[in-house]
This record gives sequence, C-alpha cells and structure tokens, in this order.
Amino acid sequence: MLFRLQNVRKEYIHQRGARVMALDNITLDIEQGEFLVVTGPSGSGKSTLLFTIGGLLRPSSGTIHFGTLGLHDADDARLSDFRRTHIGYVMQNFFLVPYLTAEENVMVACALSEPEVKLQREKSVALLDRVGLLDRRHHHPRELSAGQQQRVAIARALANDPSVILADEPTGNLDPSLANDILTQLRVLNDTDGLTIVMVTHSPTANTFGTSHIRLHDGAISLTPDAVRWTEDLPVREVG
Ligand SMILES: Nc1ncnc2c1ncn2[C@@H]1O[C@H](COP(=O)(O)OP(=O)(O)O)[C@@H](O)[C@H]1O
Ligand SMILES: [Mg+2]
Repeated sequence: MLFRLQNVRKEYIHQRGARVMALDNITLDIEQGEFLVVTGPSGSGKSTLLFTIGGLLRPSSGTIHFGTLGLHDADDARLSDFRRTHIGYVMQNFFLVPYLTAEENVMVACALSEPEVKLQREKSVALLDRVGLLDRRHHHPRELSAGQQQRVAIARALANDPSVILADEPTGNLDPSLANDILTQLRVLNDTDGLTIVMVTHSPTANTFGTSHIRLHDGAISLTPDAVRWTEDLPVREVG
C-alpha cells in the first residue's frame, strides 16, 4: 500500500476554545494506482483529510505512513521534502499566475526540480501536450476557459513527477460539461499512467470516475471503501 492511515484524528481548536474534531478516527489504506474519490457534505473533513495525506497538516493523534515514512512525526524539513518529491496538488481555484502564459505557469513548477530553462520549457510543453493543451501554450489564463485553466493546473501538478495527485474540489468552479472533461482527464492519467489520485468532491456523481470511494460524515468514514470498490473496469472516454 502507498498510504496507511491508522486511527487518525485531527482536532482544531478555535479562538474561543471551541474544539472541532475534523477527522475522527480514520483508518484507511490507499493503494498504488488507486483513484480514491472522497465525498461528503461541506465541513465533513474532506480538505483536512487531503492536507493530512499531503503532509501539510499533522494529525492530532494516530499514524499516517507513506511507505515507511511516518508523516505524523516527520519534522517540517522532511515533510516539505516529501511534498516536493511525491505530491501534486490540484485546487478548486486554479491559482495560475495571471501574467504568465500556460507554458510559463507550468515551467515555474518544473523549475523546482529542473535548473535548466531549456529543459523546463521542454517538460512544460510535454505536460501541456499530455493534458491536450499544446496549441494553447502561449495563452495567458484570461484567454483560456475555466476548464482549460484547470488543465494547466493539472499539468503544473505533474511537474515534479508526483507519486500521487491530490485534488480538492477540482471541478467546483466548472459547469457540468467542463467538470466532466476534467474528471475524464484525471481518469485517463490514472488509467494509462497508473497515477495514484485522491480526489475530494461534493459532487454526487464524481465518484463514478474513481476506482474506489469513501464518504465522510462529521470527520468519520460513513461508507467503507470495500463496499464500493468497483468490480469491473469503467469505460474510459477519449479526451478531445
Ligand atoms: N484551520 C481551521 N481552524 C479551525 N477549524 C477548521 C479549520 N479548517 C477546518 N476547520 C473545521 O473542520 C471541519 C472540517 O473542515 P474541512 O476539512 O475544511 O471540511 P470540508 O473540506 O469537507 O468542507 C469544519 O467544521 C471546519 O469548520
Ligand atoms: Mg474542503
């Protein structure tokens, strides 16, 4: 298994001392090559779960392992190294740099692992090609549709050749047909490249794109992964 979470709790303490148990005793394995879809109502702990898996938050108690690395007790330097090496994030609000082209936005991320500008550009072009945006690489974000901007964000998330893509409501700002397009794109990355994906969404239909699904309610898993693991392959649609 790639990630193993055991009895993970995350408690936030608000300014006036009120406590919120955002994750309440989560035990979960995530396998290499899995496309895990996490659904649940707003406030159910989806983002907190993603941040914990991505090494941005440490659990209040419990353990989380990435292979042999214990993310729950790793120091800040080790966690940031883990994130840089293994994690690609895709967020709801694409966070593209407005004055950079699509190609340059992806190059910035490539620069973290590749010092040579020529190679950064080559990699950026290859990644934009992979998400079907080669012909738009010289466009600025404002010249791209919301769906195309999210594709650029996916290409950027792939810049460090991550082990896993963590996507937090990646279709939250897209209308249904564009949302479908992005979900299909993620499905193709999982299916053809074997990329592990954990995607959080409150869209009730998005779970059909994954290989497994859990539902959170008040920080706890309300549906076990085994109950919904798919028994047959889902059809993969072509990305235009
Ligand atoms: N930084 C924070 N400080 C205090 N409470 C937080 C913080 N982040 C999230 N929470 C609370 O934790 C719970 C889970 O939040 P979150 O993980 O963002 O849920 P979701 O992504 O499913 O909407 C909510 O009650 C939320 O208000
Ligand atoms: Mg959230």
